[in-house]
Amino acid sequence: MIGIFDSGIGGMTVARAVEQLLPNYPIVYYGDIARTPYGPKSPETIINYSIRNTEFLLDKGAKLIIIACNSASSVATKTLRDRFQVPIIEVISPAAERAIQISKTRRIGIIGTKATVKSGIYQQTINKANPEFKVFAKACPLLVPLVEENWLNKRETKMILRRYLYPLKNQQIDTLVLGCTHYPLLKDLIQARIGKKVQLIDSSIQTAHYVKEYLLRHPEIVNEQSDASHSYYASDCTETALKVAERIFHRPMELIVA
Ligand code: DGL
Repeated sequence: MIGIFDSGIGGMTVARAVEQLLPNYPIVYYGDIARTPYGPKSPETIINYSIRNTEFLLDKGAKLIIIACNSASSVATKTLRDRFQVPIIEVISPAAERAIQISKTRRIGIIGTKATVKSGIYQQTINKANPEFKVFAKACPLLVPLVEENWLNKRETKMILRRYLYPLKNQQIDTLVLGCTHYPLLKDLIQARIGKKVQLIDSSIQTAHYVKEYLLRHPEIVNEQSDASHSYYASDCTETALKVAERIFHRPMELIVA
């Protein structure tokens, strides 16, 4: 079973991409809705929550863990890899690699939570691969609560996005990484504000491709099943969270509170 966790419902964009790309692999998901957002919290707290989330998924039978949260990926990956025996896949490297591949001007923008931007992980990963790339990162702390509130097409959301994206527009980037798994839900609004010429990178899709390649190389880790079923757990379930979940999956969803 593939285990996937996030601070809330954003990681479902990763789960959905994995479901589509790997339909025969069972998934167990955990969204820590009761403690969302992680982005403004300290690395220590995010690490503690990530350990707990991983333990939950392992208890449910997960044999591989996807940290479907950029904030947790940026600060907790090492701890989780040191502590647990199963493969731990994070969402930063697949998105950073794709950005390096497609950027022609070598000017890449990153938007993410405070925790992700403060960690400097995208800049480090991209500049380690190629020091000539210029990376411009902008923390967008209001976006996760707006997505969790299902404010996906409100005037206020558009205004806030315009304000967040303005400094990146000025840097003439040609590629923008959606460095938070909640942001694919705002993709169209972001594209409209940053301009058509800027290519957006959705870390959920890149991560699903990475997982697919990984499982092709390591088929012994998770068994394929022709009737694979998926379970979606959360530490809390609100009506709004369910609505956003159904918007992501385009089907009725059940969130089991645990
Ligand atoms: N989806 C999480 C991420 O990718 C959101 C983090 C948060 O809860 O602030 O960073």
